[in-house]
Amino acid sequence: MTYEHRIRCKALLDKVVTAEEAAKLIKDGDTLGCSGFTPSGYPKAVPLALAERVKAGEQIKVNILTGASVGPELDGLADVGAVNARSPYQTNDSMRKALNTKGGVKYNDQHLSLATQYARYGFLGNIDLAIVEACAITEEGHIVPTTSVGSAPTFVKCADKVIVEINTSQPEALEGMHDIYVPLDPPYRKEIPIYATGDRVGTTYIECGPEKIAAIVVTDITDKVRPLPAVTETEQAIADNIVAFFNKEVEAGRLPKNLLPLQSGVGGVANAVLASFAGSDLEDLTFYSEVIQDGALDLIDCGKFVAVSGTSLTPSVDGLARFKADVERYKKTIVLRPQEISNNPEVARRLGVISMNTAIEVDIYGHVNSTHIMGTRMMNGIGGSGDFTRAAYISIFMTGSVAKGGDISSIVPMCSHIDHTEHDVNVIVTEQGVADLRNLCPRERALAIINNCAHPDYKPMLLDYYNRALEACPDGKAHTPHIMEEALSWHVRFNKTGSMKMAD
Ligand code: COA
Repeated sequence: MTYEHRIRCKALLDKVVTAEEAAKLIKDGDTLGCSGFTPSGYPKAVPLALAERVKAGEQIKVNILTGASVGPELDGLADVGAVNARSPYQTNDSMRKALNTKGGVKYNDQHLSLATQYARYGFLGNIDLAIVEACAITEEGHIVPTTSVGSAPTFVKCADKVIVEINTSQPEALEGMHDIYVPLDPPYRKEIPIYATGDRVGTTYIECGPEKIAAIVVTDITDKVRPLPAVTETEQAIADNIVAFFNKEVEAGRLPKNLLPLQSGVGGVANAVLASFAGSDLEDLTFYSEVIQDGALDLIDCGKFVAVSGTSLTPSVDGLARFKADVERYKKTIVLRPQEISNNPEVARRLGVISMNTAIEVDIYGHVNSTHIMGTRMMNGIGGSGDFTRAAYISIFMTGSVAKGGDISSIVPMCSHIDHTEHDVNVIVTEQGVADLRNLCPRERALAIINNCAHPDYKPMLLDYYNRALEACPDGKAHTPHIMEEALSWHVRFNKTGSMKMAD
């Protein structure tokens, strides 16, 4: 692996050590601020070396802060019992198991735009070490990030020391794609001067300086991106419903012809939605989002996306190969920013971002659960959904109307956990249809959601619940009718019988 030319501050060549040596800088109880957002741009060699120390019998437990989810080399530390606390988001099986276990990992699920500034404010304790993946170090000792930015600029700023992983599998041509801007903290904060999706307001590197860098490790371990599963019928139907909704909004004059900057969550539905834009009449679209996946690359390729902003580039295996073969071209359209800027509510509200995120469940009044299974088990976390939803021009949540082969209705009388309240949710979309909740009172919302979005197997049950709730109110005129002893009975029934359906 030739790497020397990537370390342009020649005084730092002396700092190159093995991953094992670098991992010795980590002590029991340390808080590590790591780069990475999705399985992209996270440190790999040093966490693997740390896992080996623990497997060899050393008692080390660390607190891990990242941008968001990361790959198995880092979150797999949960497998060897090396994690005390984790924040702000994860999607890893081992980590999920550990944080859902009594006495297991302490998980602090945070809004991703806020997690970064909380680190600077000192709310997350001292950051002992920042561990950051880089594609190069500049002449001045600053760090050029790779496929994600996340919270790395703030971790570098706040940490006592920095370990840099130079990853030679990451294209050097990534340099110039990043726009690193760290806002001042109150009372000195100013507006973030982004007025259009593609605006650049910062540097192409993370400010660091040679003195802070304690060790440099060279590796070629690749990002663990995953293949893209085929779009399901349900996902396609949701996507079609969303495109039809946008067309109506344009016709009604509530959205311009090229819409407003789009934000889209990750996963199958999100990719299906973006894929549907490729075949639509919509043109000159912009994307002010968090994660850039295959759908966004496709829309750049066909000329529909003219500006794309995110904090992480996480295509599929094939998408990554396509990107790597043509980085210079994609660089003209894509900007990678720190997550507190990519997800910033101030900017999202100014630009008029249209948010599209996936829900686990939605209740008849429009509350949304994005995080918890049956009210108690953490799935992933709130991620950026709250950052965008609360600030959106139009906030959309999408979900299949049923889960687990039809045994669960995703539309329930009352959500078993609430991440987004009725006040923030504008539109619900399932494969059954669209419920436009704007300007509706709770009783109108209930009927819109049940009639347009619920699965036919559950619609009569939901209508029955709603009508009885209306009757049960003392004067028949409650603002948000509920039968409190029954509101969560669907979840209880599922836990007892394996289905939300009533026995015949
Ligand atoms: N009750 C119980 N389980 C449910 C459910 C419900 N109402 N709805 C879905 N599930 C289960 C699915 O069965 C599946 O389980 P499995 O892993 O055992 O197969 C799992 O939840 C994931 O559902 P899936 O349909 O595969 O959806 P997804 O991969 O699109 O993920 C979320 C959906 C909500 C979990 C995911 O989008 C998420 O974590 N969102 C929160 C963060 C976010 O919005 N980020 C984007 C912001 S930019």
